[in-house]
Amino acid sequence: MTHQRKKISVIGAGFVGSTCAHWAAAKELGDVVLLDINEGSAKGKALDLFEASPVEGFDSKVHGTSSYADTKNSDVVIITAGLPRKPGMSRDDLLATNAKIMKTVCEGIKEYSPEAVVIVVSNPLDAMAYVAKQTLGFPANRVIGMAGILDSARFRSFIAEAADVSVKDVHAFVLGGHGDTMVPMPRHCSIGGAPLTAFLSQEKIDELVDRTRKGGAEIVGLLKTGSAYYAPSASAVQMAEAILKDQKRILPCAGWLQGEYGAKDLFLGVLCQLGGNGMEKVIELDLNDTERAGLENSLKAVKELLGALENLEY
Ligand code: NAI
Ligand code: 2OP
Repeated sequence: MTHQRKKISVIGAGFVGSTCAHWAAAKELGDVVLLDINEGSAKGKALDLFEASPVEGFDSKVHGTSSYADTKNSDVVIITAGLPRKPGMSRDDLLATNAKIMKTVCEGIKEYSPEAVVIVVSNPLDAMAYVAKQTLGFPANRVIGMAGILDSARFRSFIAEAADVSVKDVHAFVLGGHGDTMVPMPRHCSIGGAPLTAFLSQEKIDELVDRTRKGGAEIVGLLKTGSAYYAPSASAVQMAEAILKDQKRILPCAGWLQGEYGAKDLFLGVLCQLGGNGMEKVIELDLNDTERAGLENSLKAVKELLGALENLEY
């Protein structure tokens, strides 16, 4: 009997990418390839992580490289390559720079792993997922953006702390684009099956919703030199695990929409089912007026971002 290990490639060996490799290897999801244009960085981090395996007792191999040939036949590819915004750089400059990077990366993936499920993490997320889908030409189920799990994890951790309950009992999700217009959904939250309002005042809930929307900026404000990576990488690896183990999990992710919530041919954060075929289903909810208005506003922001992308050379 032959058993072949799963293969996960992580593109970009920066903070998010190397931490993705760490979670994926520690969970023994398969063998991990870490790729960066900075070959030394990818090789050094991969070797260092591999050398932790006897101590932590995981059997995943970890290989660093700058060559796409080493990513051949990956089951899942997580893309974290991209530059953060630098002083003096406009949002459109960043959009063009990262779109160029995304295009190069996806050409490499398309050549060597045409059957992979691709998880996009690089920002601006909803636009980068779009560039990835266009370049890869993969079907909608095999290109998925990561943002909703992270935004929801922030919301869930703030709720657990405020209500003084276990994070394990807090279910909550955030829909929409990964930006200021994201839509936390307190009406759909539960703590052990009970509504949020049984634990927290409306004023406190509103405060947590606001903190969630600004969650990424809160970390940047503290770190000063970069952005969040532990929770982002844990979120991307949760998606990889759901796919590699065909778990059929219901998770908020950026999915390619075909009419759901009135959106077409773009990525937006929605509840998805993730399993062996990637994004297997989009779950469309009945929204109330406030939620619908919030999602429409977020959709507008994503369309503006895509409009800016259309006018750029990349
Ligand atoms: P980082 O700067 O630490 O790492 C980025 C890496 O990409 C660097 O090692 C760089 O050498 C590499 N890179 C650049 N061009 C490349 C190319 N053409 N091919 C391969 N590698 C290339 O940044 P960090 O903190 O790891 O963040 C990565 C990206 O993820 C950023 O765009 C960030 O905004 C985004 N992000 C998205 C989140 C989300 O919720 N979707 C959450 C957190 C970060
Ligand atoms: C975050 O939300 C930077 O998108 C990243 O932390």
